Amino acid sequence: MVIALDVYGTLVDTAGIAGELRRMFGDLAQSAAELWRAKQLEYTFRRGLMRRYEDFDTCTRQALTYVQRSLGVSMDEAAERALLEAYLRLPAFEDVPEGLRQLQRSGARLVALTNGTERSVRSLLQNAGIGEHIGTVLSAERVRSFKPDPAVYGLLRDCSGGAAEGSWLVSANPFDVIGAKACGIRTAWLRRDPRRVFDPWELSADLVVPDLRSLSEELPRSAGV
Ligand code: 2OP
Repeated sequence: MVIALDVYGTLVDTAGIAGELRRMFGDLAQSAAELWRAKQLEYTFRRGLMRRYEDFDTCTRQALTYVQRSLGVSMDEAAERALLEAYLRLPAFEDVPEGLRQLQRSGARLVALTNGTERSVRSLLQNAGIGEHIGTVLSAERVRSFKPDPAVYGLLRDCSGGAAEGSWLVSANPFDVIGAKACGIRTAWLRRDPRRVFDPWELSADLVVPDLRSLSEELPRSAGV
């Protein structure tokens, strides 16, 4: 069984950049981190719809420029470069290392399925100390688009020998769960924060778990779903 794991917001915490932002944005650091993530994702959705691909690193950099202008903070090139470097050192969520080890012990093949570029995501996973658990990085750059474009989930079908049914997509991002579900892939929503709301669409997750450790306990029972 192939388990495809989303990366940003699922394996690593994008809010983890707030510490780095504090130097530049002071008390605005938390809202700067949230605006940066929201704008980064917005740019991926818009570029996907427009079929005007630029890679995830470019979306991240352009979103950071937007945040500076929006909050009235301008940083020099060196400071901006340092922040973008820090984006390659986001921390793994505390449940992730043990959760990945448990999934591996269950015999599943673990791959990353992400908007991020293969190069950046490999550095990110290595820096977060979890690179050893992920054999393959399936990056949306291979199809020059972004989630939830079905072409991105098609990468998972190709990787699991054509049968998407034999695989699972695990993500903390509801738009990602819905995108995969729409392509016939079984999905687990990682709902670490009980206040997090899932989109009220006609598609829902097959499994909802509070952390990656619980997933490996839930999966075998649902494998036949
Ligand atoms: C990822 O593709 C959705 O940004 C998230 O890793």
